[in-house]
Amino acid sequence: MKRLVSGVKPTGEVHLGNYVGAMRRFVTLAGQYESFVFLADYHALTTVRDAALLKKQTRELAAAYLAVGLDPKKTVLFRQSDVPEHAELAWILNCVTPMPTLQRAHAFKDAAAKKKEINVGIFDYPVLMAADILMYRAVVVPVGKDQVQHVEIAREIAKRFHTEFGAEVFTLPEPLIEKGTETVPGIDGQKMSKSYGNVIPLFASAEETKKRVMRITTDSRAPAEPKDKKDTLYALHKVFSSAAAMKKVDAAYDNGGLGYKELKELLADEINAQLSDIRARYDDLIADPKKLDKVLADGGECARAEAQKMMKTVREAVGLQ
Ligand code: ADP
Ligand code: TRP
Repeated sequence: MKRLVSGVKPTGEVHLGNYVGAMRRFVTLAGQYESFVFLADYHALTTVRDAALLKKQTRELAAAYLAVGLDPKKTVLFRQSDVPEHAELAWILNCVTPMPTLQRAHAFKDAAAKKKEINVGIFDYPVLMAADILMYRAVVVPVGKDQVQHVEIAREIAKRFHTEFGAEVFTLPEPLIEKGTETVPGIDGQKMSKSYGNVIPLFASAEETKKRVMRITTDSRAPAEPKDKKDTLYALHKVFSSAAAMKKVDAAYDNGGLGYKELKELLADEINAQLSDIRARYDDLIADPKKLDKVLADGGECARAEAQKMMKTVREAVGLQ
């Protein structure tokens, strides 16, 4: 079976963009690929400065993966930092990565444009990500659109390594994007993101979900008027609403007849109905840290064995004894 690798950073509340753009797909793709899915805690260290918080968010993300239906018997689920070989491979890849490749990465350019303080970890982020992917010979990397450039950089680094060392040790990965959910908008219309404060959390209560949904930005059209299908509310309905609800929504957008208030209430109901089982499972999982630790320990052992095999080949190829 071909391999799949993907990860999410434990940097805050998991939101609906992470769920549909990434996590939900890891579950559906698990039957088609041999999957390695991890908690990117080394990557989280580029921004998190609180040890207790990082641990808490890592545990919450592990519970989230299981709650959305990831089966640790089918998918190797692990913490990145349980496989320190990722950091070793990143160092070796650093040595073949041209500075300009990282200087043109969107995430770095955005941070630089906003005059944010940038540590070396942030600058080097794509190289660690390349190590995560190349380590397991991934053929596909399911991610949202914002991560596509990072997967392309991983390909570029692999090719460069092959040319410079004359050894084809890596597999060239492809990003796997899902049409329609590649960029889920947040309640303000920008990409839903932890960093923009515009999220609908995956594990909020039904009431909290409704509150956030009611804050979705809309224009001032009256209930009787037709509405613009390019707006955020419609985009979110497209992602979350059932066929039956979509019929009503389409009718209201085409011909008028429902106000934004009703359309938002309908969206909140649809999201809450779709997520109620996942949310109940999450509550059980988070109450059982021993189970989470066991799953991650088993996954870590399996991933590490694979990583050690790859590192033997890489060390051989570059001349480390
Ligand atoms: P955030 O932008 O909130 O910090 P992450 O960078 O941790 O999210 O993203 C984790 C995964 O979820 C990545 O694969 C990313 O592409 C995907 N993702 C994040 N936000 C969205 C979104 N709004 N729409 C689709 N996918 C998303
Ligand atoms: N950079 C990804 C994000 O912000 C997380 C990530 C780290 C990742 N390593 C990866 C995703 C490897 C896919 C493959 O969401």
